[in-house]
Amino acid sequence: MEQHYRITVRDTGESFPCAGDQAVLAAMIRSRRGPLDYGCCNGGCGVCRMRIVSGDWDLFRPMSRAHVSETDLEEGIALLCCVQPRSDMIIARV
Ligand code: FES
Repeated sequence: MEQHYRITVRDTGESFPCAGDQAVLAAMIRSRRGPLDYGCCNGGCGVCRMRIVSGDWDLFRPMSRAHVSETDLEEGIALLCCVQPRSDMIIARV
C-alpha cells in the first residue's frame, strides 16, 4: 500500500493527505484545500509555483526553468504539479 503524507499550507493552516505516488497539486485539488491555483498540471505554466518550507520531496517530472530558477530551487521553490512527497510537508505561497 502506498504511503500517505500530510501536506500543510502554512498561510491558512489547512492540510490534506497526499500519497507518495501522487503530485502534491493533484492531492490539493482533490481535497479542495489550499490555494488551488493551477493551470497546465504538467510543469509548464508556473501557476502552481509555491515554496516548500519543510519536508522531503522529489521531482517526478521536469519543471519549466522559465518559472523556477536554480536559486529558487535551492530555496525550496517548486511547481507543485511536479512534486511528490517523501515525508509530511509544509508549503507556503511564494
Ligand atoms: S499547473 Fe502549470 S506548472 Fe503546475
